[in-house]
Amino acid sequence: MRIAQLLKSTEYGSQVVVKGWVRTKRGNKNVAFLALNDGSCLANIQIVVDLAKINEESLRTITTGACVAVSGTLVESLGAGQGVEVQAESIEIYGTADPATYPLQKKGHSLEFLRDIAYLRPRTNTFSAVLRIRHAMAFAIHKYFNDRGFYYLHTPLITASDCEGAGAMFQVTTLDVDNPPRTEEGKVDYSQDFFGKPCSLTVSGQLEGELGALSLGQIYTFGPTFRAENSNTPRHLAEFWMIEPEMAFYELEDNMALAEDFLKYLIAYALEHCREDLEFMNKMWDNELLERLQFVLDNDFVRLDYTEGIRILQESGRKFEFPCDWGCDLQSEHERYLVEEHFKRPVILINYPKEIKAFYMKMNDDGKTVRAMDVLFPKIGEIIGGSEREADFGKLRARIDELNIPEKDMWWYLDTRRWGSAPHSGFGLGFERLLLFVTGMGNIRDVIPFPRTPKNAEF
Ligand code: 4AD
Ligand code: MG
Repeated sequence: MRIAQLLKSTEYGSQVVVKGWVRTKRGNKNVAFLALNDGSCLANIQIVVDLAKINEESLRTITTGACVAVSGTLVESLGAGQGVEVQAESIEIYGTADPATYPLQKKGHSLEFLRDIAYLRPRTNTFSAVLRIRHAMAFAIHKYFNDRGFYYLHTPLITASDCEGAGAMFQVTTLDVDNPPRTEEGKVDYSQDFFGKPCSLTVSGQLEGELGALSLGQIYTFGPTFRAENSNTPRHLAEFWMIEPEMAFYELEDNMALAEDFLKYLIAYALEHCREDLEFMNKMWDNELLERLQFVLDNDFVRLDYTEGIRILQESGRKFEFPCDWGCDLQSEHERYLVEEHFKRPVILINYPKEIKAFYMKMNDDGKTVRAMDVLFPKIGEIIGGSEREADFGKLRARIDELNIPEKDMWWYLDTRRWGSAPHSGFGLGFERLLLFVTGMGNIRDVIPFPRTPKNAEF
């Protein structure tokens, strides 16, 4: 039986078998107490070992980190804070953990230390809590969209087009990089590569997602995306998961309403279904976590024009590390000023200058700004980026030409505007940014099981 189930049981006297990893062992000459955890929940179950019944030699090898199966009787616990415990009749040892070498022998390791042993950290309270919350959020995302008639579309991970146009892509090739075939001009001959042309790992499923929206009406993607930008910040990963809904017939206002409803649904879901883990995170890492989650639920997001945002920043009298004039891309310090200090709640910033946004966004009538939206959150900054898409064939092609994007990579995307084009919108939620917000963790490396960052792909 899983410990989460056992702890709720009132079937005192029943015979049970429970399997898990020893968190602590204490006791005296007559009796030993094991705190056993199997990952099903934060709480351990207490195992009471009568030394008269269990071989003393084998008990000695049951130390912190060891894996055991305990057969015994479920009894009502007299200790505070636990309803039941197991009186052991026999213990089978699956795997010992030598105290001299086991890295998690002691409690209270720093997050930095645990990052270096990422392959073991799910055995700690903190990381098991984070991973359970991560699971719950993934499940809630599918439930949210399924309940609203969105279809889950699997977009490719290997692609020939650079959606965000940032050029930060990981190349995929089977050519011999030390000695690739060459054309007569001496360039690498990609016609001999696996796909017959240069390909990369995708930075976003959006372009293919748009095809889905213009046929199935409402779709979402949820998968890994890859960015080869060399940014070593607490908010960037080279491999992260993104959720990208895309909706036919949605204008920017509908897109904003969906983004706000979606985020609030996920936060409410976490508060309802991950209570124990969230209370633990609140206690251990961020004393304002629960309050902040509830606050975001209870307040409307501000909708603000980029131009107005720049004016507020300039009139703030604040010295920013990066100055900001109309036309500049906002830095995290600017976003957080608007959210945490000026408005004191989430902000949806819209109508950005076209120069700092991707080619596919719908142009406003002013010819200078596009119908972009970034959702900015306290502590995080940008959590969602999205837009209404340019649906007009002529305008989209003009923009692609203006930016010198090779039409040979984009012809199929342009074709969606050639036949049966429709107004449509979508956005991308960074899954790990959401998890930073929901768990209260401060570093994005601590909300994904195996973080990929520059110079880090060990396990
Ligand atoms: O703003 P971005 O680049 O937007 C897109 O990729 C669009 N194609 C989305 C769409 O409209 N369908 O990325 C979207 C979100 C960001 O707001 C951020 O939360 C997250 O993805 N993100 C990252 N998360 C972790 N590490 C990185 N390097 C990230 N880059 C973006
Ligand atoms: Mg963005």
